[in-house]
Amino acid sequence: MSVCSKTGLSKQQQERWPYLYRHLLEEIDIPDFNSVTENDIEKLDSDLKKLIKRIGDAKSKSRESLTKHLSSVIFRRFGKNAIVESFGSSVTNLSIGTGDLDLCLSFKNKTPQKVLRKLSGVLQEEGMDDIQLIPKARIPIVKFRDPRSGLDVDISLDNRLAIYNSMMLKSYAQEERLRRLVLMVKHWASRRGINNAFEGTLSSYAWTLLAIQYAQIVQPPLVPNRQENYTKRPLTFHGKTFDVGFDDEPYSTDNTMSLASLLIGFFDRYATRWDWEAMVVSIRNGAHVSTKEKKWEHVGPLPLEVVTGSDEGRMQHVMPIEDPFDHDHDLSRVLRAEGAMSIQDEFMRAIHMLSEGKSWQDICEPIFDINEEPEDLFHDLRKSSADEVASRLEELRTELEGVEKQIQELVEERQNSKELLELLRGGLQETRNVRSDRQQILSELRPLSLKVQELREVRDGINQRIAIPTKRIHQEMARIFEKLTSEVDIFNAPTLGVERGDFAYFFELQAMYQASLQSNEAHQEFIRLRREQNEEYRALKKTRKQEEDVLVKLIENNPALEGVHLNPKSVKEFQKNAKLLQRSINQQYSTKHELRREIGRLEAWQRISSKNKRNQQRRSPNPTTRRNRRRPPEVNINEVRQKASSGDSISLNELDALLSKGGIASLNNSEQIKSKQKQRPSKKRTSGRIDIRQGRTRGRKQMRK
Ligand code: CTP
Ligand code: MG
Repeated sequence: MSVCSKTGLSKQQQERWPYLYRHLLEEIDIPDFNSVTENDIEKLDSDLKKLIKRIGDAKSKSRESLTKHLSSVIFRRFGKNAIVESFGSSVTNLSIGTGDLDLCLSFKNKTPQKVLRKLSGVLQEEGMDDIQLIPKARIPIVKFRDPRSGLDVDISLDNRLAIYNSMMLKSYAQEERLRRLVLMVKHWASRRGINNAFEGTLSSYAWTLLAIQYAQIVQPPLVPNRQENYTKRPLTFHGKTFDVGFDDEPYSTDNTMSLASLLIGFFDRYATRWDWEAMVVSIRNGAHVSTKEKKWEHVGPLPLEVVTGSDEGRMQHVMPIEDPFDHDHDLSRVLRAEGAMSIQDEFMRAIHMLSEGKSWQDICEPIFDINEEPEDLFHDLRKSSADEVASRLEELRTELEGVEKQIQELVEERQNSKELLELLRGGLQETRNVRSDRQQILSELRPLSLKVQELREVRDGINQRIAIPTKRIHQEMARIFEKLTSEVDIFNAPTLGVERGDFAYFFELQAMYQASLQSNEAHQEFIRLRREQNEEYRALKKTRKQEEDVLVKLIENNPALEGVHLNPKSVKEFQKNAKLLQRSINQQYSTKHELRREIGRLEAWQRISSKNKRNQQRRSPNPTTRRNRRRPPEVNINEVRQKASSGDSISLNELDALLSKGGIASLNNSEQIKSKQKQRPSKKRTSGRIDIRQGRTRGRKQMRK
């Protein structure tokens, strides 16, 4: 793969960051916004307005109900000690609909041990997906996805500063143009894949601060510094005290710039006119503070050096952005070299495309597949007849009924299953002592049985060898002994051979007698142990009976437990079943959600088309009259604007055109843009002013060596 000798970037990297690459090679100049025409700005403004209308916070209801649901789940698990608060875009009024749900969990008293682990347990029971624990972060956090609403959720622990900074962002967002500017910046960053702190780019929060800082320094300022004239409010947290006070009074502005001009200004400012080496974004100061003053000068390699492998050191303060309350926190510390390169490239891309009059939609073209609704919500229905729409609606309603019924059944089943689980748990608790007795008996029974078996083998082994009973042996011994010890009849004296045989027989009887005694002993012991064993068996049976009694009682109260064994394995099976049921419920809920959405869309279409029909009928009772009606003369909007601003009289038609193109306010904007154009030198800026981060200007590299 060919590596660029000047930048060190591989072919793949050159393709990944094409705008930045060409700037590094000084192949393209910094674009000149003087070339942006008024028409382009107007077009951009109208694109932005349409988009803002469209994005809204479509999921605000889902956020609300999910917040309620999660709060109740958390209260159930941790009791009244827990506090759940929302922060982030769901409270700041700065949501672009695709954002996550940010919740903060804190505790009035002591924080329970292993709280994140416990929390993830309940979330699992609730059927949440992709649960991830990040316990070691500055603020510990659990991330997951709610399968029903599709919302990504972050629950962070004791994230108190975030609650206050969210309130302050909300206070800033009372200026509608700032709110819209933030939305557009977040929208762009999100679609271009550069708003994810976990992936090494900047968080949505950091992008919001950038937009606020720009709004503070634009002339005249669009927003004031809310931390200038305010009442202090100290908050001690993690052993440090922060001042979280800010001015929450309503404010007004002299700035009349259009949203499009503000957005262009934002990109122009941060892409080319912000010295990241020397300036720290600081909204609490109302303007940048110097990196030197903050001791936040860039340390370590440049992103370019890291991605080209020429330096593997750690980068610090790459794009310094100060947190408004935690002044030691640089929000760019999450930046990875690749993320920083992507941000630079996106800034370059945005200013080029804006200067070329490209549409906002093109500028925000998503870098990954997103499931986006077509701009026209009813595109597929326009060709369908009213009857077709009506019959589709009917089908969907029937399907919805079916799904609702299924949900109800599943919910009931899960409820029953949970109740049974509780009963089983209760039963297990009740029989805990019995089970421990049984364990004790079983542990004693095992060696006892072995001993019994051993004794049986000893006894039977001997008995097999000696077939004669002990008593018989004893009699035989007495007889032979008598024979061997009685007086000898000299006329009938036994031969030596007979006598030897008797002696041998006697000794044999003696050995047999010994063995037989052993066998008897073993037998006695065997009998004793068997008795003991039987007692243990009886005790075991008793414990079973006790357990059965509990189970019978349980079954009497709930026949569904018939056939269930009272043991931890059954409890586990019930738990698994409850989880599976919850998963099915979630799936059915999302189907229901989809169906309702589609039904709503078809109903809306029915309403719109019948209204259109009525209007048409009303407007054209007689087609000839309509055809004869004169069309108003076309007007040139630029001429109208000129007339209006110079005080010339304008016709009704022209007034109508002016109002529909942004009204009188648009005159100010166009004037402002013109005067801005006049102020700026028309000379093209050269790429020499590109961000110094890339090490191309001011001998940055030499300075660092
Ligand atoms: N936050 C913070 N410090 C950070 C990042 C975030 O204090 N380093 C807090 C801020 O209060 C911010 C909230 O977390 O408002 C949510 O951050 P984020 O999700 O990045 O911003 P949102 O505005 O919620 O963006 P989105 O709509 O994309 O979710
Ligand atoms: Mg968020």
